[in-house]
Amino acid sequence: MRHLMSPLDFTTSELDKLFDLANDIEHNPAKYAHACDGKIMATCFYEPSTRTRLSFESAMTRLGGSVIGFSDANSSSAAKGESVSDTIRVISCYADICAMRHFKEGAPMVASEKAEIPVINAGDGGHQHPTQTLTDLLTIRSLKGRLNNFTIGLCGDLKFGRTVHSLINALVRYDNIKFIFISPEELKVPDYITEMLKEKNIPYEEVIRLENVMPELDMLYMTRVQKERFFNEEDYMRLKDFYILDPAKMELAKDDMLVLHPLPRVNEISVEVDNDPRAAYFKQARYGVYVRMALILTLLELA
Ligand code: NCD
Repeated sequence: MRHLMSPLDFTTSELDKLFDLANDIEHNPAKYAHACDGKIMATCFYEPSTRTRLSFESAMTRLGGSVIGFSDANSSSAAKGESVSDTIRVISCYADICAMRHFKEGAPMVASEKAEIPVINAGDGGHQHPTQTLTDLLTIRSLKGRLNNFTIGLCGDLKFGRTVHSLINALVRYDNIKFIFISPEELKVPDYITEMLKEKNIPYEEVIRLENVMPELDMLYMTRVQKERFFNEEDYMRLKDFYILDPAKMELAKDDMLVLHPLPRVNEISVEVDNDPRAAYFKQARYGVYVRMALILTLLELA
């Protein structure tokens, strides 16, 4: 039995198979409409979510399966003090697969050790968010036709943004990737990531001003400042509008640069950018359903 805790749990050739399957689902949805008939997915969300939970639920429903779960820790027995280990043992009796989001780093991993069904990490604190990374990679591969040879700018909250941490981890396995980290001093990418990049000889730069690097980028991954992970309101207020991507900044970019964002957006991308053909973030949300459909089929060994 397989779980998904980190994007590195799949080899790059396994990922290629998963993305081929996701593209086939995109183009031939009817072929998969009953692939999960009779199967049940549990979505156990101890932290707020719109896209991740609903895209899992949409994915399972589009495969013919059904969904049970909770979207708030307070409406689960966690509020009575139950451990995730006990919860997952019980969920294993009710469902065939589980997607779990938790505010504590490592909680889905602890759950997977006790689970009798595949567990998917749907985001654990500021740590990892592997299914967002699968979404990001599928989007890039589908829109650009490759996952190698590009310069990617990651902008915003690189300290607390789990999508950033997972995406960097995943991209280092492809050839000729250069990272440009764009953040205020306080929200720099964690040291363990820059150490890993140095060890692997992967080029990266850390800059503060987005304008200065715009012309170099093949891809710009914008992120929200992660309010819920700040220790004080004052720091958040000071940093929340540090970057705002607007049409003037887009003018500095390449004609075929892609703008990605895991969403939700707050102010970091002005709505005027939404109609720019390079804005790919809503397409990205759609790819999130196809990739989760492919993942469910793969983990349930139905692919
Ligand atoms: C991200 C998350 O939850 O980490 N959202 C998502 O799953 N698409 C990004 C965020 O909350 O900023």
